[in-house]
Amino acid sequence: MPGLQRELQSEMERWEAAGLRRRITEAQGPERIDFASNDPLGLARHPAVVEAARRALEREGAGGRAARLLGGGGEVHARVERLAAEWLGAEAALLVPSGYQANLALIGSLAGRGDAVLSDERNHASLVDGARLSRSRVLIHRHLDLEELERLLATAASARRRLVVTEGVFSMDGDAPDLPALAELCARHDATLIVDEAHAAGILGPAGAGALAAAGLVDGAPCDIARVVTGGKALGVGGAFVVGSRALIDHVVNHGRAFIFTTAPSPATAGALAGAIELVRGMDAERSQVRRLARALAAATGANTPAAAILRIPAGGPEDAVERAQRAQAAGFDLRAVRPPTVPPGASGLRVVVHAFNTDDECTRLAGEVGSVEAAEHPAVPRAERRALFVVGTDTGIGKTVVSAALLTAARRLGTAAYWKPVQTGDDSDTRSVRDLAGASAEELLDPGFEFPLPASPHEAAADAGGAVDPAALEARLRAALAEDPARRLVIELAGGLLVPYRVEGFAGAGPTRTQADWLAEVAAPLVLVARSGLGTLNHTLLTLEALRARHLEPRALFLVGPRHAANRETLERMGGIRHVFELPPLDPLDAPALEDWLERSDLSPILRP
Ligand SMILES: Cc1ncc(COP(=O)(O)O)c(C=O)c1O
Repeated sequence: MPGLQRELQSEMERWEAAGLRRRITEAQGPERIDFASNDPLGLARHPAVVEAARRALEREGAGGRAARLLGGGGEVHARVERLAAEWLGAEAALLVPSGYQANLALIGSLAGRGDAVLSDERNHASLVDGARLSRSRVLIHRHLDLEELERLLATAASARRRLVVTEGVFSMDGDAPDLPALAELCARHDATLIVDEAHAAGILGPAGAGALAAAGLVDGAPCDIARVVTGGKALGVGGAFVVGSRALIDHVVNHGRAFIFTTAPSPATAGALAGAIELVRGMDAERSQVRRLARALAAATGANTPAAAILRIPAGGPEDAVERAQRAQAAGFDLRAVRPPTVPPGASGLRVVVHAFNTDDECTRLAGEVGSVEAAEHPAVPRAERRALFVVGTDTGIGKTVVSAALLTAARRLGTAAYWKPVQTGDDSDTRSVRDLAGASAEELLDPGFEFPLPASPHEAAADAGGAVDPAALEARLRAALAEDPARRLVIELAGGLLVPYRVEGFAGAGPTRTQADWLAEVAAPLVLVARSGLGTLNHTLLTLEALRARHLEPRALFLVGPRHAANRETLERMGGIRHVFELPPLDPLDAPALEDWLERSDLSPILRP
């Protein structure tokens, strides 16, 4: 079998074994009770919507024929945009073929190099991809954590624009952000708020106009606001609208690549959307029914209170989620398991969407089938990686070990802590230096992951010893260390500079094939950057920051080690956009009391927060 085929097949086998393999399943047919589709109001099959599609199809043809800017689309497209704007209380709306593209077009047109996108960790992939493709700095905050968001906004103060991106109702968990508080925060930090209303529109707000409308933020919000309202969920059709001021929509028309370079949606889609919007405005009774049933089902199954139609019933891991979904399916219900990578590790469960046509009796029976989930063996765990803090260097020999010892000492004051060097090359043992400088006990020092005697880059030292660095083994080791003590913080010192190569068995040839940064990006744990204070540091530090940010990694702090250099510090603060900058001057003597003395004057606790 050719190499690529073999590689793909063996990956799928691993996914299958871990219960993570997904398959396209056929729609389960009308005989199953629908608790899965994103069609909570049942508009996908509503005769008036189907008829509106048919009329548009007959009048304007089957296809969009061209991109809108090249004459594609027609009267029905312009009409549905006017209708959508009016329904949503906005100056203008722009029809885009899908919600995925709407998010790419909106974020991509507003943000670019020099801007910052601040995103909730549970945001939908289309928001994540929109942020990534925009080439702006992407700053991810914990789910619904406004304090962390505020800290990140402060670090992005020097960015040209700041976009705060959220869902109005989260697509996997069914919970919702505090939009008035988010708008206030955006106003304070001169940021624009972008709300993806995919799972809120149709279900929340007056006339179903969505979460922003429900929060009273459509008129007179304290900050700039833009919305995406998808047509494939409560409207039951497909396509999506970017919604906002006339100036915003004109901007997206001129700059939104995911709008400009795609064929206009079919007239049938535009016509069906017009029909669905006419209907949805008057469906208050159905909206109330959906919300009432969703809350009742959540109460009966131990799920969190849902904001709209979606709830996630927790399960005890991916296999357990699949098993429970299969049990409910066998009992006649259509609902699906959600597992990583769709949700973060530890958040596997059953995703349920409640529909206006579901009944109290169906909800009671469904709760009976899946209700024992509360007793799941492995409750969802918060992202453990946050207790790991990586110490990354711009170079070798710049003081990473001293910074690691300082971090270990500071972490110990907050609870249990340990130090780990995943890859150690050469005779010098950084673990021993940390022991002496931090006065660390044996339990606080984990054995290095891989040790090679040649004092060289990991790939060269590994080759010299006839060995390799196995990132999967490192990751397993990291997870085991985190699991061993669920309160312990880990300070993890990487080798050399950020981009040093690892030698990885199984990659083509014997050469270096992956860098340390690739592994760091996979783990995606918090990190600090260590750089020298003097000549040469501007280039090294700014390059390393670019390399980190290209991998969506954001340092919590920058440590400048060596004789004080005020101009470099000031330049890096301004150009690097890192909030916490610490100067660690040469310690004389270099010993534990001198380090303690420096720590008395330097509060590291904000960067050790899990
Ligand atoms: C929150 C959110 N945004 C955007 C999308 C993408 O919308 P579409 O399916 O129209 O591409 C989805 C749908 O899966 C979603 O859940």
